[in-house]
Amino acid sequence: MIVVKDVSYTYMTGTPFEKTALKNISFDVAEGEVLALAGHTGSGKSTLIQIIAGLIKLTRGTVELDGLSVDDKKIRRLVGIVFQYPEHQLFEETVESDIAFGPKNFGLSDEEISARVDEAMRQVGLSDELKKFSPFELSGGQRRRVALAGILALKPKYLILDEPTAGLDPLAKENLLKEIFGAIKKSGVTIILVSHNMEDIARFANRVVVLAQGEILFVGTPRELFAREKILARAGLEPPPITQLLRTLNLNEQALTLDEAEKIILKPWRKN
Ligand SMILES: Nc1ncnc2c1ncn2[C@@H]1O[C@H](COP(=O)(O)OP(=O)(O)OP(=O)(O)O)[C@@H](O)[C@H]1O
Ligand SMILES: [Mg+2]
Repeated sequence: MIVVKDVSYTYMTGTPFEKTALKNISFDVAEGEVLALAGHTGSGKSTLIQIIAGLIKLTRGTVELDGLSVDDKKIRRLVGIVFQYPEHQLFEETVESDIAFGPKNFGLSDEEISARVDEAMRQVGLSDELKKFSPFELSGGQRRRVALAGILALKPKYLILDEPTAGLDPLAKENLLKEIFGAIKKSGVTIILVSHNMEDIARFANRVVVLAQGEILFVGTPRELFAREKILARAGLEPPPITQLLRTLNLNEQALTLDEAEKIILKPWRKN
């Protein structure tokens, strides 16, 4: 479990560029949950996840992972973080050595490393023969998968994804999401997903934390969030198009996905 309590953070304190990025943030992330972090650009999402991963030093408040403070070096093995556009950080000569880089640093045996590389490649839908390719011979979507596999190979208990599908075309995005979330959810990893995309949040998240100007505006399920028009407006967010469409049709029932919308719309015809 992750417990974030009264966290505030200011960049460049005491300079003319001082900027408060987070104010009194408190929330929990339960084991096995997919928690989405939503909010307008500059609302503090990336700052918050870097604090949770121990990459930005806490100055106010506390963050605990499984009872350990984020300051504790032991948490490094618990958390895997995938930054926006992670493929820009690939640097090894082959796909295989790139994915193996982290596990090697953990000092694992060669067999264990190779087993983890295989498993991670399977999880992100990369075929075996790509192992000996250079990451630079791959498409953008495939490179993204390699970067993700490198983090999955560390087998983190908590996985933090910052906009994992940003910049991919619709098909690549859809496939990546299905594969990642299908595989990851089965393995029971706890996920924090930073996303601007309300459809993705509707489909994959159990709960959402909405940030606006460094403060928490809302914590609850996607369904609860999409019924709160004022909160959405204040955060500069919109419900998924399908949710908006059903609202416009005045059907009195909320749909988060296409499947749900179909059932609601066809209900009058299915009765007899
Ligand atoms: N290294 C930094 N130095 C100074 N200010 C920063 C730094 N990083 C972020 N900020 C400021 O802190 C605030 C929160 O930024 P943050 O990157 O956490 O937002 P975000 O929600 O991730 O935005 P986006 O959706 O654009 O990624 C912004 O006002 C930003 O300008
Ligand atoms: Mg960000």
